Amino acid sequence: MRRLRTSPNIRAFVRETKIDLRDLVYPVFVIEGENIKNAVESMPGIYQYSVDRLDEELERVSRKGIKAILIFGIPGYKDEKASEAYNKDGVTQRAVRHIKEKYPDLIVIADVCLCEYTSHGHCGLVRNGNILNDETLKLLCKMSISLVEAGADIIAPSDMMDGRVGAIRQALDEKDFINTPIMAYSAKYASAYYGPFREAADSAPKFGDRKSYQMDSANAKMAMREIQYDIDEGADIVMVKPALAYLDVIKEASVRFDHTIAAYNVSGEYSMVKAAANMGWIDEKKIVLENITAIKRAGAKIIITYHALDIADWLSEKEQE
Ligand code: PBG
Ligand code: ZN
Repeated sequence: MRRLRTSPNIRAFVRETKIDLRDLVYPVFVIEGENIKNAVESMPGIYQYSVDRLDEELERVSRKGIKAILIFGIPGYKDEKASEAYNKDGVTQRAVRHIKEKYPDLIVIADVCLCEYTSHGHCGLVRNGNILNDETLKLLCKMSISLVEAGADIIAPSDMMDGRVGAIRQALDEKDFINTPIMAYSAKYASAYYGPFREAADSAPKFGDRKSYQMDSANAKMAMREIQYDIDEGADIVMVKPALAYLDVIKEASVRFDHTIAAYNVSGEYSMVKAAANMGWIDEKKIVLENITAIKRAGAKIIITYHALDIADWLSEKEQE
């Protein structure tokens, strides 16, 4: 085997997996208010921006050659029915409109979920402590339409209610948005790796947990059913989330399905690398490139990652051994 490892050129010649900037999606957090750039403590390098300062971030994104962002909004006002989620002048809708005006070629993926917008922090409507399924679907449809009307290119439902992909597909088609793809968070696990994100998006549930709608980390076969249902309901791209602790699920999905697969390298995965790197215990660049290569090798074409801007810098440096 060592014959194929004798020089950088030979190694590159037989290399099977290569990270491409066009694979990456960078998450962006936009918050209600003016002149805001808030550091997210648990995610060094990640900030919440108000719409009027969003260009600072977008300028970096476009200069570094990132082609797609995933947008999360943090409203100033939250209530039981997530009113701001489908307000056409809500913070997320205004941000999307601004971005598409200024950067028309940037792919804007809108996360669709109610947890940032509900007073209780759950991803759906709540009655008597239960998360309601079908009542929630109506709001997810309204939210999706308002975001596509604002200019969103792709809709990404992350709520894990049953039947939401089909409902959203139908709602978009009825409005003639037949060309807007749905990237479904299909196999989304109830994961402790989302901890830092809940600070970034101010979306921690005020009671209980998300185990009645997000998946149990012990289950892989069930993930295949989730993905199959989303495909049957019209998902164009299917996602596994988190990524690194679920590489087996990504792999299995890529073997079974021909749909484009996305994986979300989530906040906790990012924060752990950042913390160890800041301590000087690991080589950040090498670790990140190894992790992203592993996610792609497992079968994900699209990788959502907070490391995207750093990766862009590293890839533009001299081609490494
Ligand atoms: C909202 C949502 C979450 C993430 C993406 N969309 C959090 C959650 O479900 O609690 C997590 C992203 C991350 O941790 O980076 N439903
Ligand atoms: Zn949610």
